[in-house]
Amino acid sequence: MKDLKNYIESNKDRFLEELFELIRIPSISSKEEHKDDMYKAAEWIKNKLTDDGAENAEVISTEGHPVVYADKILDPSLPTVLVYGHYDVQPVEPLELWKSKPFEPEIRDGKIWARGADDDKGQMYMHFKAFEYLNSTNQLPCNVKFMIEGEEEIGSPNLGKFCQANEDKLKCDVILVSDTAMIAKDVPSITTGLRGLSYVEVKLTGPNRDLHSGLFGGAVANPINILCEMISSLTDENNKITIDGFYDDVIEIPQNERAEMAKAPFSLENYKKALDIEDVHGEKGFSTIERTGIRPSLDVNGIWGGHTDKGAKTVLPSEAYAKISMRLVPNQDSQKITELFEKHFTAIAPKSVKVEVDFLHGGEGYSAPSDTSEFQAASKAFEDTFGKKAIPVKSGGSIPIISLFEKVLGVKSILMGFGLESDAIHSPNENYPVDNFLKGIETIPYFYKHYSEMKK
Ligand code: BES
Ligand code: MN
Ligand code: MN
Repeated sequence: MKDLKNYIESNKDRFLEELFELIRIPSISSKEEHKDDMYKAAEWIKNKLTDDGAENAEVISTEGHPVVYADKILDPSLPTVLVYGHYDVQPVEPLELWKSKPFEPEIRDGKIWARGADDDKGQMYMHFKAFEYLNSTNQLPCNVKFMIEGEEEIGSPNLGKFCQANEDKLKCDVILVSDTAMIAKDVPSITTGLRGLSYVEVKLTGPNRDLHSGLFGGAVANPINILCEMISSLTDENNKITIDGFYDDVIEIPQNERAEMAKAPFSLENYKKALDIEDVHGEKGFSTIERTGIRPSLDVNGIWGGHTDKGAKTVLPSEAYAKISMRLVPNQDSQKITELFEKHFTAIAPKSVKVEVDFLHGGEGYSAPSDTSEFQAASKAFEDTFGKKAIPVKSGGSIPIISLFEKVLGVKSILMGFGLESDAIHSPNENYPVDNFLKGIETIPYFYKHYSEMKK
């Protein structure tokens, strides 16, 4: 790669300043009041991709937030890489826990601090700059398409339709994504698995109004008490999920593969220390890496009802709510799981309360083979820049569109993530080491090179 290191070194301040411009647009997809910011971010991306050398850049409206498309087609007979990323970010609350403002990026201790610094503006932007380098130095070895969406953090509700309607436009040989993590800063990783998701909200209703807890307490069902009992019965003493049929489609991973996974450089001690916990918790019979990588899980994401303001109010509430998410493994179907949940949750409720289950969003898991040219190309690219082999990892996170790409476009994705667990994505003080950002820009061009050579 001609002068790649020099190119990055002499342009890195500009790269960061550009990324900061994008970060300053508060593109929170889940909040109605940021609708205009979504368009602002999409327009910004469209213009930047054009500056970087892409053609046919457009902002395409959907029923939700817009998608940005751009491409550079050198020759239809060459292979085509489609770069996917998302410009939307998660909400930032609680604001008081941020050391610097979430949409005013700052560099401290060699890290970029801001919402979206890693997930996914920072990681996505590495691709823009890698493309800028390849294009401006006439080294682009294949066709490139960009598809950057604004609804990933809300489950990509319109992207399946978008892909179906634009099948021709999105035609490609492989999808390249940086929206995952590496095991550690010096351990390059290729994500070969993502979990699926079923996200529901439940509501329990007891009496038709809030009651005096002295006059009625003990005689009328308290929906919050009942909700807690119901939720705690969803897992058993071995932390297995008790929903009937929940594990039916879970593929058991053979011992040899589990032994392979156990070789990953993972330190349980450091993991506990980083989270300030005395012990971990999870399904009996599985290690921590296995619990997130190859097993499903169920978590209450929020629970509320009754009196939560300051001081005491003796009340027996009429309603109780919870948001519950289930992470699924490949081959579990999110819709089927949602139905099983609803059936089970309704069945275990006592007559003293009414139950409602609402589906919020979901998506399927993903599993990538490691015997493909894209895996080999990514692996070689990491070797070129890190000097060591990348480790395949099964991630606990979800990117629902990745399985949709496979289903609708028939194309596999290669997940080259440069994030770290310590980047605090979705949390206050999200950050992204400048080194990782630059290393990504350095590694991506090698992927293009190796992939194009292998496809010749
Ligand atoms: N980039 C993450 C997913 C991720 C992070 C995968 C790290 C692997 C390693 C993505 O933006 C995300 O947060 N996804 C959501 C999906 C959801 C909102 C539908 C998730 O996993 O909660
Ligand atoms: Mn992401
Ligand atoms: Mn995210």
